[in-house]
Amino acid sequence: MSAVDYRGQTTLITGASAGIGAEFARRLAERGSHVVLVARRQERLDELAAELTAAHGVQATVVPLDLSLPAAGQTLAEEVARRDLTVTSVVNNAGFGTFGPFHQEDPQRLREEISVDVAGVIDISRAFIEPLRAAGTGVLINVASMAAYLPVPNMAVYAAAKAFVLSFTEALWQESRGTGLRVIALSPGATSTEFFDVIGTNAADGGARRQSPGEVVATALRALDRRTPPPSVVSGRFNRVMASLGRGLSRRRAVLLMGSMTAAH
Ligand SMILES: NC(=O)c1ccc[n+]([C@@H]2O[C@H](COP(=O)([O-])OP(=O)(O)OC[C@H]3O[C@@H](n4cnc5c(N)ncnc54)[C@H](OP(=O)(O)O)[C@@H]3O)[C@@H](O)[C@H]2O)c1
Repeated sequence: MSAVDYRGQTTLITGASAGIGAEFARRLAERGSHVVLVARRQERLDELAAELTAAHGVQATVVPLDLSLPAAGQTLAEEVARRDLTVTSVVNNAGFGTFGPFHQEDPQRLREEISVDVAGVIDISRAFIEPLRAAGTGVLINVASMAAYLPVPNMAVYAAAKAFVLSFTEALWQESRGTGLRVIALSPGATSTEFFDVIGTNAADGGARRQSPGEVVATALRALDRRTPPPSVVSGRFNRVMASLGRGLSRRRAVLLMGSMTAAH
């Protein structure tokens, strides 16, 4: 049997108050995992925790936290230890994007973007990698983006941040071989979530069809259930084609193509 057995595991999911993170929580609880739900909006997390416990009988723990703060990983590790929980799987999903010409972007917002999308992922991965390796039964899913594969004008910082997550996670995949821990970078393309409300424009989807969070999460869980899961997976056929253009086109053509897709309307 190659499928991951989530029964009795405890999965920490960041960004569980909305979109792809909430979907991960639902699908993993359905498969029997206890969950630790992390985001800033506690009310939403409380509602989701009650729903998951009622529907699946799993333990759902809420940890409200702003992941743009320094040492988020250490804070989470302490919160989890205080509750006597042993985390065996992690989904680093929390994140947001910014849109617009770089010279017009708010420097403070860019700092937060890097703190959540990059520093938070590293810090949380480092805080939990040892227990995850020791358990050797779970998964580490880092949510990157199709934007990780190509430079994206008007989303220069976001795309670079996600390229970081992709590269980091693929390296960790190799380091984790033989431990039983399955590591994967998940790259969604445009997905119907609050992402576009937060970023403040629909232009960020490049005109592509938006997948549902269900499709995106299913892609990740299916890949992890393979006998030898890949280091990364892109969700959706169109997005896979776009990601592969990053390898096929010259750098000049690639960035010009992406610029035409994300021109501010
Ligand atoms: N939707 C897309 O088209 C798309 C495409 C590619 C990749 N992605 C990636 O997918 C991931 C999930 O995004 P989504 O589409 O589900 O967007 P979403 O619906 O806006 O959800 C984002 C989640 O991240 C959390 N978050 C944001 N800033 C945070 C902070 N400072 N501290 C703690 N939590 C924070 C939010 O919770 P609170 O606001 O409650 O804190 C929320 O739960 C992100 O990494 C995103 O970059 C999305």
